[in-house]
This record gives sequence, C-alpha cells and structure tokens, in this order.
Amino acid sequence: MRQVPQDLYDRLVALRRELHRYPELSWQETRTAGVIRLFLQSFGIQCRTNVAGTGVVAEISGKTGVPCVVLRADTDALPIQEETGLEFASVHNGVMHACGHDGHTTMLLGAAALLSQEKDLPAPVRLIFQPAEEKGTGAIAMIKEGVLEGAGLIFGGHLDRHYRPGTIVVSEGPVNASSDNFSIEIIGQGAHGARPHESIDAVVVGSLMIMALQTIVSREIDPARPSVVSVGQFHAGTAPNVIAGQAKLEGTVRAQDPAVRRQLLNSVRRIAESIAQLHGAKIHVAVTEGTPPLINQPESANMARRAAIEAVGEANVLPLKTANMGAEDFSYYLEQIPGAYVRFGSQVPGREGYPAHSSKFDFDEEALAVGAAYYHAIAKIAGQQLEKKAISV
Ligand code: NI
Repeated sequence: MRQVPQDLYDRLVALRRELHRYPELSWQETRTAGVIRLFLQSFGIQCRTNVAGTGVVAEISGKTGVPCVVLRADTDALPIQEETGLEFASVHNGVMHACGHDGHTTMLLGAAALLSQEKDLPAPVRLIFQPAEEKGTGAIAMIKEGVLEGAGLIFGGHLDRHYRPGTIVVSEGPVNASSDNFSIEIIGQGAHGARPHESIDAVVVGSLMIMALQTIVSREIDPARPSVVSVGQFHAGTAPNVIAGQAKLEGTVRAQDPAVRRQLLNSVRRIAESIAQLHGAKIHVAVTEGTPPLINQPESANMARRAAIEAVGEANVLPLKTANMGAEDFSYYLEQIPGAYVRFGSQVPGREGYPAHSSKFDFDEEALAVGAAYYHAIAKIAGQQLEKKAISV
C-alpha cells in the first residue's frame, strides 16, 4: 500500500523527473526555486524565494504561540555528466542530480501538499528548501537569514541505496561525520638528482609524512570511534633528475565525535611538524574547518522513530547499519536547535553498485511517497511535543 494518494504520487513522480531533467549547481538553483514556488502555490501555501540567494522558505500555519517545526530539503545538483540512460536524464551538460536532492525536494513538497489539508496543526510548520548542500555552505547561509527564528525542532533526511524502498532508517547518536580539510606545504632544498647530499628532499619528507599520518587512526584514536585521515593530493617536482625543494599535501579528516575531531586535527599538525623537523625542512600547515558531525539527540530521534513507524510500520523502521563518514550540512541546524536526520531506503535492483555522486546513480521513486508520509507525520508528532511544552510553560 502506498503512503500517499495515487494522484499526489503521480504528481510527485512527474515533479521529481522534471527537477532531475533540469539540475542546477550550488547557488544557481533559480529554476528549481521557481518549480518549488509554483507547486506550493497550487496548494495555497505562501513562500519566500531568494532567501540567501536561491533558497525558498514556506510557512504552513498551526496553533499560535507554539514554536514551529522546521522540515528541510536540499535542492542542488553536482558537476557530473549523467550516464544513467534514463528517459528524464539531465539536459544540462555536466550537471546531474547524482545525490538525490531532486528526490528530497519532491518528498518535502509532497509533505507540504498533505499538510495543507490539515485544519488544526499543533504547531506551525516551516519548510526550508536549502541550496548548496554539496558545497557545505547552504545551511549556514540560511541560518544567517533567520530561518530558525521561532523554531523549536528541525527534521531532515537523505535517500540511501543501502536500504530497500519502503524503509526508513532512524538512529540516535552520530549519523554523519565532520569534514575538515588540511594542507601541508613542505619547504626543503632543491638539488641535482645526482647530488642528494646537497638537498632537503621535499618528496622524501612528504612521503614519510603521508605514512606517519596513517598511524593517527591506527595507533592514536580509540578503535571504537570511527575516524578517517586521507591524503588526496601530493604535488611535487619538475623533472626526473631534479630533487624537489617543495611539496604540497592536501587531505581530509572525518570524525563522528567532536573530541576525536579535535584530536585528529591536532595530531596531523604535530606529526607534520615533527617529520619536517626530523629532516630540517620547513612547513606551513593550514586547516579549513568544514561541517561538524551530525548527531541525533535521543529525544528527537525518538520522535523521528514514531513518525517513521506511522509512515511505514514498525517492521520497516531500521537502525543505521554502519557508521557513515560522509558529511551533511544539516549538522549546522542541529548546533542551533534539537532535531533528527533519517535515511529513506531507495535501493534500485541492479544499481546497488552506483553510489550517490556516481554518474549512474538513481533511486526508487517509492521513496518519494515514504518521505512525504514521514515528513507529514513528524510535523504533527513534533508539533504536539512543542505544543505540550508551550502549554506547560
Ligand atoms: Ni546529498
């Protein structure tokens, strides 16, 4: 049995395919914003466009004097050339909805349609259509625009190909990792390839550094706490017979625990400085802090679980199978107010091997109905909690 009426489901599928056909990169989601506005208007829902540039915020009224429940979707696509062969494949060269944000936007619009039929919502509902999640900058920009003012709780979610359609994954605790980048510039002494004794070889220093950085996760961090240190770039040298005087390493650090995140970044710096000193090289270490870890608080995760059970039944509500070390900028909202982030099962048989951010990524459209039903349910369940608190104050 499908979670939303057939006519709404058909509309959602058509809408998702339109969004998929015309994907837009981070901070360029203007056409997408227009599609969102038109859909909301057709259900009598007012919205503000151009929020932080290309964001859209809509309000559905509920009991006055109660803080609102915020539901958030992301709207941007990725710089990837689509290779799915779908009939509604992207017509924008080199741009693709390869992370399912077309689905996220559509399911939240489905929830808006369902919520617009409700007469007495226990709390107002605010819908956030956030740009630029892929750049990790959209959430902060929306928060600066005041989208959390008067808000009590926030909920969001992501499609996930690891779980079958019709399931919702709800866990408390960390569900996404932090993401910080580092760069290490090594300044040694260039020389002739035949005269190594006259050099401080930046390639050798950099190589030792890369190997030593591997020991942070394997020897310094509690193995029960998931963490990653990856060096993605190593640039050095100009010719086979020239010893490089300079090298640059760039990498990323992931953690699910704020304390482990600090420890990883401190260790990267300490090891880089020690290896440089060992060989008489100079270094500059720079850290660019990205999104914090995404941590579901138990009380909000519990509300999310109740909503998921309402949407798909208890047998289809699953715990997170493994730690997810990807980042998600929803975590910035959770630094401000409580809430929870879930996953919607959307496995397509035969496409399990094509993860998000792959040129052949696709998802099962049943998830659109599941997502709409979940957001509809959580708006009411979370709203009731906020209403209760508002009365008892
Ligand atoms: Ni995504």
